[in-house]
Amino acid sequence: MTHTVEDGHRLDRFRELWGEIAPIGRDERSGGYLRYAFTEPELRLREWFREQADARAMPVTGDGNGNLFAWWGDPDAGGAVLTGSHFDSVPHGGAYDGPLGIVSAWLAVDELRAAGVTPSRPLVVGAFVEEEGARFGVPCLGSRLLTGQIDADRAGRLRDAAGVSFAEALGARPAGADPGLLGRFGAFVELHVEQGRALVDQNAPVAVASAIWPHGRWRLDFTGEGNHAGTTRMADRRDPMLTYAFTVLAANKEARLRDAHATVGRVVVEPNATNAVPSRVTGWLDARAAEPDTLDGLVEAVRVKAGERARRDGTEVTLTEESATPLVAFDGGLADRLARLLAAPVLPTGAGHDAGVLAAHVPTAMLFVRNPTGVSHSPAESATDADCAAGVVALARVLAELLR
Ligand code: GLV
Ligand code: MN
Ligand code: MN
Ligand code: MN
Repeated sequence: MTHTVEDGHRLDRFRELWGEIAPIGRDERSGGYLRYAFTEPELRLREWFREQADARAMPVTGDGNGNLFAWWGDPDAGGAVLTGSHFDSVPHGGAYDGPLGIVSAWLAVDELRAAGVTPSRPLVVGAFVEEEGARFGVPCLGSRLLTGQIDADRAGRLRDAAGVSFAEALGARPAGADPGLLGRFGAFVELHVEQGRALVDQNAPVAVASAIWPHGRWRLDFTGEGNHAGTTRMADRRDPMLTYAFTVLAANKEARLRDAHATVGRVVVEPNATNAVPSRVTGWLDARAAEPDTLDGLVEAVRVKAGERARRDGTEVTLTEESATPLVAFDGGLADRLARLLAAPVLPTGAGHDAGVLAAHVPTAMLFVRNPTGVSHSPAESATDADCAAGVVALARVLAELLR
């Protein structure tokens, strides 16, 4: 591969802008990020977003749901091309999941301007709030609110672990669906770090997304009888931890049987004492599959197995859906067009994105940037500066194509 002066300049520009946000919300111990919606690091990132918009003379508007939009061109012109992603992270998440799409968006604007492009329709850089659902429990909360996929009152009442509601964090009841704003967007492109190893395997820096697996979150409440660990005979126990543990293994087995994915990555135990049989265990099941029927079958199997086991353990279990995202097939014509333009592979993903929510309302595409470790939702998530710079070039080309 040959490197031109321009490539070197692009690398420098990427490193410079990336370096501005890299320290924000970074946990020194884990090397991961704690950037929860409306907490201090995320508020600083929002401030940084406004500074970037000001520096490019792009006025920022909000939608009353916590999402931000910076406009190059007259919002009333219609047919706007939106690009961007989210700032928030999972607990100890990687650097790239979300912010790479926003940094790349600013740099793509710079590329277009340097190339003398005068868009005939508005170009908008967006930042969506609470994409991970790490603080309030529902992923893609900002895009769900904007599109009306979640009721504004319900969203406003969602609470974080400290009892603060989304409405309190936002400072107002969320505004909810805004068909007028959505109607101004003619296309949405979200650039995102790849969250698996497909691009490493295919030896390509950038890909176009074809689909997002249907997925969701279910809360499993296991209840039993809290009691003394030393004095309660084993036969007399009603221990919800046992039912929980069995259910985690069953979910793993049922997912493997179906080529699907099941994860229990979060658990809360009450009273959470070493010397007490727990009274209650709450676990959250994240389940995903390529096909909706497979996902339904998986969740039903987990429900049935957990119930059977609860009867044996003398405990009770309930399974409650907390969020669900249907299969997203991105606009096939658009994906093929962009894949041809970039000579890039096309891949599906098991990860959720605001692009998946917007896709039901606006022609939407996603670009993925290679991740050498293939790891995500972990500090080990990675991307090389050169691939990130290649992502910026790809995004700028895509935007130029859509702005024509
Ligand atoms: C969001 O990143 C998800 O796929 O869980
Ligand atoms: Mn994520
Ligand atoms: Mn993301
Ligand atoms: Mn995501």
